[in-house]
Amino acid sequence: MSFIELINLDKRYSAKGNLIVNQMNLKIEQGEFIVFLGPSGCGKTTTIRMISGLEDISGGDITVDGNSIVSLAPKDRGVSMIFQSYAVWPHMTVYENIAYPLRLKHMKKDERDVKVKLAAEKTNIGDYLTRYPSQLSGGQRQRVAVARAMVVEPKIFLMDEPLSNLDAMLRVSMRSELKNIHETLNATTIFVTHDQAEAMSLADRIVIMKDGIIQQIGTPKQVYYDCETVFVASFIGTPPANFFKVHLEEIKNQLHAKNELVDYILNDEERVLVKDYLNQEVIMGIRPENIEINTTKRVPEGFLFEAKADFVEPQGSHIIVIINQHNNVVKVSSPLLDLEPKTKIFLNVKEHRVMFFDPITEKRIRKV
Ligand SMILES: Nc1ncnc2c1ncn2[C@@H]1O[C@H](COP(=O)(O)OP(=O)(O)OP(=O)(O)O)[C@@H](O)[C@H]1O
Ligand SMILES: [Mg+2]
Repeated sequence: MSFIELINLDKRYSAKGNLIVNQMNLKIEQGEFIVFLGPSGCGKTTTIRMISGLEDISGGDITVDGNSIVSLAPKDRGVSMIFQSYAVWPHMTVYENIAYPLRLKHMKKDERDVKVKLAAEKTNIGDYLTRYPSQLSGGQRQRVAVARAMVVEPKIFLMDEPLSNLDAMLRVSMRSELKNIHETLNATTIFVTHDQAEAMSLADRIVIMKDGIIQQIGTPKQVYYDCETVFVASFIGTPPANFFKVHLEEIKNQLHAKNELVDYILNDEERVLVKDYLNQEVIMGIRPENIEINTTKRVPEGFLFEAKADFVEPQGSHIIVIINQHNNVVKVSSPLLDLEPKTKIFLNVKEHRVMFFDPITEKRIRKV
């Protein structure tokens, strides 16, 4: 177990190239399970390759337990990495695959044997030690890769989309197994994915990246309900948050957030929050499940707008109602409700669960 710190970490692949990783600062606690989440090309793999030593850094520092590791060779960093393609050696049995990194360390045969069997047991492949990878299922092969990575008792585990080659069902079950393995080993882990469900279910904290820049670091709950930027609110959630570009106007002692569709009256707390934006625009972000549909009457508290439901998409346990009006597409996730398309509905925000963002920086407006 170790703690890792990324300090002003930069990466460019050529002297005049773009910053692929841009001033990244992150402290990972001992035993923490961190997930890097972000769209394709945002620098996730690059970052963990720099930590593992497979890639040079262009600026800043990486420390483990307070000591810089950037001048150490990959094998001396106490790091094990599992790749997207699970890369187990086809010509070696499961046993030989797992034992391989120990042989590289010239560990004695008896000691090696104990460790291989223990790793195989922990990953549930103890019965397959004499088989070759071609005689295993995808999930079993993935477990061999995990066993081989953990047999060296790394201080740090790096996993680059380790489940992406598996089918949907297997992915979900391997996900819980990885979580179990992490709970027994407690190795500090960085797990890369662009699957938000995977990130949510595995992470102690999620690091959301875009264009090499960290957008937010937080628990799954924080990055979902308390978004730091418009990007985070639009990247997380299915469907993602709704956004309304609104103008803030004082009318009869009340502060209204208005556009061609919405007329929302802010409560006292919200008024204080956006006081610097009076007579200016802000972006309101509201999660689909934080909008309430009323089919009979207009309730003033938290009222947003009146509309017709354009589409109703049944999801089994709930429905998604889609409203397309005045260039605003609004998605509401509602408990089951008998709603014919084109019915008139009244929409309210639940408990003023609105996030306000600056329209230029697209950053969350926070209390100062
Ligand atoms: N060896 C390289 N030389 C030059 N550019 C590279 C190299 N490797 C990656 N890049 C570029 O760096 C950027 C980040 O790549 P990276 O592989 O880190 O993204 P990622 O977040 O892991 O994406 P994905 O989700 O698709 O795996 C991309 O624009 C990519 O084209
Ligand atoms: Mg990648």
